[in-house]
Amino acid sequence: MKVLKHLFENNRRWASQQTQSDPDFFNRLLQQQSPEYLWIGCSDSRVPANEIVGLMPGELFVHRNVANLVVKNDLNCLSVIQFAVDALKVKNIIVCGHYGCGGVKAVLENKNIGLVDKWLDNLKPVKENFQRDLFEIKDDALKFNKLCELNVVEQVFNVCNTDIIQKAWQREQNLSVHGWIYDIKDGLLQDLDVCISSSDNLENSRNAAISKIFTEK
Ligand code: CO
Repeated sequence: MKVLKHLFENNRRWASQQTQSDPDFFNRLLQQQSPEYLWIGCSDSRVPANEIVGLMPGELFVHRNVANLVVKNDLNCLSVIQFAVDALKVKNIIVCGHYGCGGVKAVLENKNIGLVDKWLDNLKPVKENFQRDLFEIKDDALKFNKLCELNVVEQVFNVCNTDIIQKAWQREQNLSVHGWIYDIKDGLLQDLDVCISSSDNLENSRNAAISKIFTEK
């Protein structure tokens, strides 16, 4: 008997439903994938990329890690971005954070969890850079939300500042980078109004996105 049998049963049911509603479904996917979107999100099980945006297999290229971080020496994330941009020619990169993110909370509260602390060190500069503005927010829940939003904005610009994206824009590839945040409590996505499509005025766009976060309370 297979272990985790219920998951195999779910799988058989899912595959047969797909084939019933679209007999050519798997054949088409077998030929090639041509997603228009790269999703960079948190590993959190409550934030399933495809389902949130209603996209089918083949439509969304996905990278997830704890706290949706884009770190300039992370070969894993950079490889995903490079393949998505250079080979798949995605038109949109979506960095999607979420409220209630455990990784963000650990950094906000200086908690030690174990090995993952090393990874979350990459998030500390986001907190430190905005320490003063965050300190002024007395409501702890709001402060937590704001750090989740700031993290998204900073990761968007980390994506934009990679050589991969800079080169894509230099050759005038059609490519935008977006910052979104997902709310676990109602399943709704919110656009943080960051949509970057060229390397012009990156610093101004970043400052505008950050000041918007602190003016909306
Ligand atoms: Co998270």
